[in-house]
Amino acid sequence: MLRFALALIAVSLAAQDSVFFQKPYLQLGDRPKLSSDEGLDLMWLGHDRDVAWTVRYRVGASWRKAGVKELRRVAVDGTAPHRVFSASLNKLKPGMRFTYTIAAAGKPVFEGGAVARKGANTDSHFVVFGDCAADTAGQRAVANQAYKENPDYIFITGDIVYSKGRVSEYQQKFWPVYNAEKADPLAGAPLLRSTLFTGVIGNHDSQPQPDFAAAADLFGFYRYWSLPLNGPALSVGGKNVPQFKGNEEAQKSFLASAPNYPRMANYSFDYGSVHWTVIDSNPYVDFMDPAFQEWLRNDLKAGARAKWRFVAFHHPPFNSSKAHFKEQRVRVLSKIFEEGKADLVLSGHVHNYQRSFPMTFEVEPGFELTGHSEVPGKWTLGKGPIYIVTGAGGAGLYNPEQNGDPSSYQSFTEKFVSDTHSFTVIDASAKTLKVRQVSAAGKELDSFTLTR
Ligand SMILES: [Fe+2]
Repeated sequence: MLRFALALIAVSLAAQDSVFFQKPYLQLGDRPKLSSDEGLDLMWLGHDRDVAWTVRYRVGASWRKAGVKELRRVAVDGTAPHRVFSASLNKLKPGMRFTYTIAAAGKPVFEGGAVARKGANTDSHFVVFGDCAADTAGQRAVANQAYKENPDYIFITGDIVYSKGRVSEYQQKFWPVYNAEKADPLAGAPLLRSTLFTGVIGNHDSQPQPDFAAAADLFGFYRYWSLPLNGPALSVGGKNVPQFKGNEEAQKSFLASAPNYPRMANYSFDYGSVHWTVIDSNPYVDFMDPAFQEWLRNDLKAGARAKWRFVAFHHPPFNSSKAHFKEQRVRVLSKIFEEGKADLVLSGHVHNYQRSFPMTFEVEPGFELTGHSEVPGKWTLGKGPIYIVTGAGGAGLYNPEQNGDPSSYQSFTEKFVSDTHSFTVIDASAKTLKVRQVSAAGKELDSFTLTR
């Protein structure tokens, strides 16, 4: 008993002694396009004190030094004040493994490694899941299994952190699981330090009327993530963005420290042979807004140079679950996805796995979109994008009773798995796109291949 108590004290001292508030993680930064000089942002959270940080990284045989920037101080109720740091690792060769070292006051405190983004003609292997950081056994098991896949990167289809994407919730549910010290189905995995994370906001990361009086530490996404800033121009309090309320001091403090709000809600990027178009599908976005539609059309058109085109957002337009069944607003964009020749449309929100047949959709003539609503129309199966719901990343599963009951599915659904947590694994090469759905226990639940 005494040994156990001493061990606990030792563990807690070690945690206090750590120079990190949260250990390193990798972000794409504002780098939408592939380049012969690749780069990634190495980020971490430090305590609220001055530390002389240095970052070195090895490219081939030579070590380089990266400048360290303090991006912001996060001082919100409920979490100790801390600082967000970033070092831009530039001049990486596409697809090349590199190592990095972080030192504090000259003393090495962390070593890690990762792979630079892969070039246009290189095979890539990556993982997609959503609805994840809910502090559940399923979340930890999915993280562990995803780590075993050794993905080049991970894309999260929204509802990244429950239940409001708060700083305190990142502390409890995000960092400890996705940056666990070792891979363990009961704990998580050391993913963030070794694997690029990308993703999109869901309704739990960004509410229509965020109330800063109820929670001053909202929008962990904009405080911690660093993604491309090539989406449509948006302004604070304007169109297609949340309308803040309560605690104006907290609002001001958030805005002052989050220059990427709200621009980072939509963006696009390339990785290997895939072009990703990423959009905020929350109900405050007017999908009929000409500027929004124009950006989406143009982005998909620009993505034509890639072999494969994905569109990703949180709310699935085609869903056979009883849960969220009426939330079909994104269907009004399906024509744009079709014209843009999207191969896959990836969503979350519904906590299970669903795959549609390749399909097109015709919105009922005269229909007008108002609020969060059903969108009537006609689907035709056989050609067009495949719609995937991959929202089984950790939060409580939806409609397990529909598993194995095809009579409860819409006719566009080809595969439906709602009795286990799972994630999507994709292998993209120039000629084939292999997609698998894998359970948290490592069992293959679905598999299909597209060829060019
Ligand atoms: Fe959701």
